[in-house]
Amino acid sequence: MILKQKTLLEVLPPDLDRDRLPKHVAAIMDGNGRWAKRQGMPRIMGHRQGVYALKDLLRCCKDWGIPALTVYAFSTENWGRPLEEVEFLMTLFEKVLRRELAEMMAENVRIRFVGNLEALPTSLQEEIARSMEDTKNNQDVEFTVATNYGGRQEIIQACREIAKKIKTGEIEPEAIDEQIFEEHLYTHDISNPDLLIRTSGEMRISNFLLWQMAYAEIYVTETPWPAFDREAFHQALIDYQQRERRFGKVGKKI
Ligand code: FPP
Repeated sequence: MILKQKTLLEVLPPDLDRDRLPKHVAAIMDGNGRWAKRQGMPRIMGHRQGVYALKDLLRCCKDWGIPALTVYAFSTENWGRPLEEVEFLMTLFEKVLRRELAEMMAENVRIRFVGNLEALPTSLQEEIARSMEDTKNNQDVEFTVATNYGGRQEIIQACREIAKKIKTGEIEPEAIDEQIFEEHLYTHDISNPDLLIRTSGEMRISNFLLWQMAYAEIYVTETPWPAFDREAFHQALIDYQQRERRFGKVGKKI
């Protein structure tokens, strides 16, 4: 029997330490529009190509043993884009979800959406609910998609929830601590990211996971999202493994 030979980068590259991989990677998928323009194509083609990059990164997380991936698909500010682009993105999310559900089941991926989902088109909300329900027992990769998401808005809605509970006497103001606060965030049952990757060069967090990113290592690459492949991810992980994570304490090297 001829076994399928795993090609380079299908398995964890040998220069990465399996025990020091991030457990949760977050990504700001920037540069789709610029990538498309550079190829002489309309901006929306960049988003379409971006889906392929995302699919491969998700599969790579599974292949290399990284259990959680969170991506920023649509921010609360993105509604300010031209109407055709917003409509294209909403339709794209819906189509991709419908098309990829079977594969997420086969790959044992659990998908979740975070953000103000009620403001999304109803048909997309239905597709989101279905994909979350169908994949809820899958365990290989926790895949979270931030859609109509804003970090400040998330913090405000957590404050509102807590304030309501204080009003009814369910929580004492003095009892509020980091754990109680985190329990009221969209991400209450998801770990905080260890590594944030931002493609296309900008050095900003752009209102993404503001609370959760407190101790994340930030890696910015000039590569635009549609061109972010396994080799680019490999480079990000090499960079991550060279960092010393101190969490506010004194480092070992000093
Ligand atoms: C930012 O690039 C990218 C987005 C606003 C959309 C990202 C969405 C995807 C890749 C699709 C994901 C699909 C699912 C189902 C999760 P940009 O347009 O801001 O690029 P620019 O900075 O070059 O203009």
